[in-house]
Amino acid sequence: KKPATLGRTVVLVGMMGAGKTAVGKALAARLGVPFRDSDAEIEAAAAMSIAEIFARDGETFFRARETEVIGRLLSGRTCVLSTGGGAFLQARNRELIAERGVSVWLNADLQLLWSRVKNKDTRPLLRTPDPYGTLRALYEARTPIYAKADIEVCPQPGYTIETMTTRVIEAL
Ligand code: S3P
Repeated sequence: KKPATLGRTVVLVGMMGAGKTAVGKALAARLGVPFRDSDAEIEAAAAMSIAEIFARDGETFFRARETEVIGRLLSGRTCVLSTGGGAFLQARNRELIAERGVSVWLNADLQLLWSRVKNKDTRPLLRTPDPYGTLRALYEARTPIYAKADIEVCPQPGYTIETMTTRVIEAL
């Protein structure tokens, strides 16, 4: 392990469907630290789903809550923190993460992402007439920003959660 990553919160970033939550849980268990998820924290505090928050209060409201949650979780004890796909896009969030965390980009390709999100209805940003086109546009616009993460790990179609977790640990 590189000394710089010791004691830092591992922050998983990347697109919807990259596996941030699934890998985050397994990674936290392997590292023996708590698992936190920014979307889940926002949902619990609001007692609403992400889709309901977007519909009722709008994306701007959601993004403000997201930054609060990320700031709060990063100032607490070391953990593994999975973020929503848009979190790393905000410069303020990247600053907070750089101060106390190590960012890990789960860089899955577009086909793998689509295969994982296409049958789910939980992502308000994909509720458009052309969800694949929307996902592709987000993927293309966001990739250069995710690339600012400290570490990149690429999920492959055959990888299990355990394989991905091992890849992340090796990269830390
Ligand atoms: C979003 C991703 C979602 C959730 C919200 C917005 C995004 O999280 O935060 O729907 O902007 O990509 P997941 O990446 O966990 O799906």
